Amino acid sequence: MQITYNNEKSIFKIDTENSSYIMMIRRNGYLQHLYYGAYVSDFDLEYLITDMVNESFSPWAPSAGVKYFALDIQPQEYSCNGTGDYRVSAFSVETSKGNSSTSLKYLSHEIFDGKKGLKGLPSTYVNDKTEAKTLEISMKDEVSGALVILSYSVISGFDAIMRSVRVKNNSDTPFFIEKVYSTCVDFNDKDYDLIHLYGTWAAERSIERKPLIKGIQEIASKRGSSSHNHNPFIALVSHDTTEDFGSAYGFALCYSGNFSAKVEVDTFDQTRVIMGINPEDFKWKLFPGEEFTAPEAIMVYSGTGIGGMSRQMHKIIRKHICRGKYKNIRRPILINNWEATYFNFDTEKLLKIAKAAVPLGIEMLVMDDGWFGVRNDESASIGDWVVNEKKLPGGLSALTKELNKLGMKFGLWFEPEIVSFNSDLYRAHPDWCLHVDGYDRSVGRETAVLDFTRKEVVDHVFNMVSNVLRSADISYVKWDFNRNLTEVGSDALPSDQQKEVFHRYVLGVYDLAERLTSTFPDILFEGCSGGGGRFDCGMFYYFPQIWTSDDTDAFERCKIQYGTSIAYPASVMSAHVSASPNHQTGRSMPFKTRGNVATSGSFGYELDLSIISDEEKEMVKYQVNRYKELYNTIVCGDNYRIIDPFTNNRWCAWEYVSEDKSQAVLTYVVTKSNIKGRYLLKLKGLLPDAVYREKESGRTYRGDTLMNAGLNLGKDFQDGDSEILVFDKI
Ligand code: GLA
Repeated sequence: MQITYNNEKSIFKIDTENSSYIMMIRRNGYLQHLYYGAYVSDFDLEYLITDMVNESFSPWAPSAGVKYFALDIQPQEYSCNGTGDYRVSAFSVETSKGNSSTSLKYLSHEIFDGKKGLKGLPSTYVNDKTEAKTLEISMKDEVSGALVILSYSVISGFDAIMRSVRVKNNSDTPFFIEKVYSTCVDFNDKDYDLIHLYGTWAAERSIERKPLIKGIQEIASKRGSSSHNHNPFIALVSHDTTEDFGSAYGFALCYSGNFSAKVEVDTFDQTRVIMGINPEDFKWKLFPGEEFTAPEAIMVYSGTGIGGMSRQMHKIIRKHICRGKYKNIRRPILINNWEATYFNFDTEKLLKIAKAAVPLGIEMLVMDDGWFGVRNDESASIGDWVVNEKKLPGGLSALTKELNKLGMKFGLWFEPEIVSFNSDLYRAHPDWCLHVDGYDRSVGRETAVLDFTRKEVVDHVFNMVSNVLRSADISYVKWDFNRNLTEVGSDALPSDQQKEVFHRYVLGVYDLAERLTSTFPDILFEGCSGGGGRFDCGMFYYFPQIWTSDDTDAFERCKIQYGTSIAYPASVMSAHVSASPNHQTGRSMPFKTRGNVATSGSFGYELDLSIISDEEKEMVKYQVNRYKELYNTIVCGDNYRIIDPFTNNRWCAWEYVSEDKSQAVLTYVVTKSNIKGRYLLKLKGLLPDAVYREKESGRTYRGDTLMNAGLNLGKDFQDGDSEILVFDKI
């Protein structure tokens, strides 16, 4: 890793292990992008630019000091709006005079060891200055007085560049930031496929791969959260890139609110990618002397296919985004009562489940929705975080004392950002939810969204939640968020700042998450938003795991977890064994397979363990022990996707290899056995010369044999058959 600046040619070069990123100050201060891709030794790639085109429909910039310097056809490092570049732009301010023409010119730069945090926002971090290098380039818009600081960091050992942008108002009048994307990359070709992860509630992160078309393609959310629908991650891969070969660029935004990722192929066959806060419904009034920080974008380059890109992302998230006590230690295996009881539970029922769970090796009981206020169904009480002693006599302390006697930890569910219309909180403070006077307050699961732009609202929630967390021995919190934002207005802001509400809301969420996680450092926080509706790098900074999906059907989970793995590691994916037939799909599935699929995540159970058969109890014991044994390989190892459930209608398979390559864990699931075919596959990521023993059969193979000749898994399968095979290096 290194960052250099060549004074003579005014060229910046950022090198990671296997990639290079080059830009240049040209023509009176225009910062122009020269290259991003596989490592190159030379820094002077100015020759790639085609400078002059006498084209009257691309007007040129006279201040460049040379005729026909048209921004519209030039690669830009951070494109601006309204001054000659007609492609999608990364930055625009509206001045006090009401104009939106913006032009940034180079001012100065600084290269230093380490990496700064982002004020009020999640971001990648390093523990030691020597682990990272940062380049900050200051750019100035002469008319508005905007000072824009472009930040680029690299972390040793990674092919990743972390980018963020700060905007300062150095003038003496306020201006409005209309858009401030976090990254902008110009490629001088167009031969890419766009990969993105789309979905809906209970079917998150399906993989879509399509060749770029000429024009603008956008992946975005306007829902106030990163959303089930489109994830804040995209990849550009060459047309011939496969899982294991070829170049792949991943772009992930550390942000949990409205985002936009735009890709434009222009008429000159150049491609521009921008990613950041969605400028729709956004406008930020920046007062003199103030600074605005845009979220961090992570850019990953892989020359070893989509798999290589994913593994880079996984490692960055595990090592440089996730924090806290549970970053590196195994998380407790839990039993969650939601699908076992829904709202219909009391202390007795919970203890019955806990008593059944303890001898099976399960370590924590999680009490889900319904323990507070008068909440017996969806219609009431969110916001009233006071224990319902009718269900739980003696409160949480009585319950946790009993659980502690059993040797069990305890966790519980909250929905901090939400208020039920039928709640004491809403009756006391009807103005504390987001709303716009004159319009209906849209209803989502009988609730509204609290106005987290207001400090007193966040303070109130912090105090209520903290009181509960202090009242008993609590080891875990599931932080849910079950609706999207509507009527996004706040009573606390003037009319010309209403378009700040979406972003201020997210800042309020991060503020609460930071305060709660730092006040209760021993508690494991799990994120959730109707399953995986807010599953992004921003959330992982506070919550090292997130409930991947409300769909717990093992076949559906094969797809959801496989799609999720394109960007995110197993360590952040909560996965539970639930009842059969499955409550979401009605599909029946062997207990073994439900366990096998859930093992590729942060593992737990979500069914009534007090009523399962003795045979199933034995299976739970086995699965729990195996998970403990395989934890390091699955949760801290490298993921290799082998058979894709989106394109193969018979079966799917994936593998984890420990960092030192001494163990591989292969999982396969047969989804449709009556479609004829053979069940052969090749492992990946092993040491070719090492000998591996397959645990169950005791048979030994060389690594190169497993990777090149592969395995024959047999033939007489039924729908839903599955296996986890463990290969230990001997
Ligand atoms: C959401 C979550 C579920 C459960 C319910 C409770 O849907 O995703 O796991 O917690 O809320 O209401």
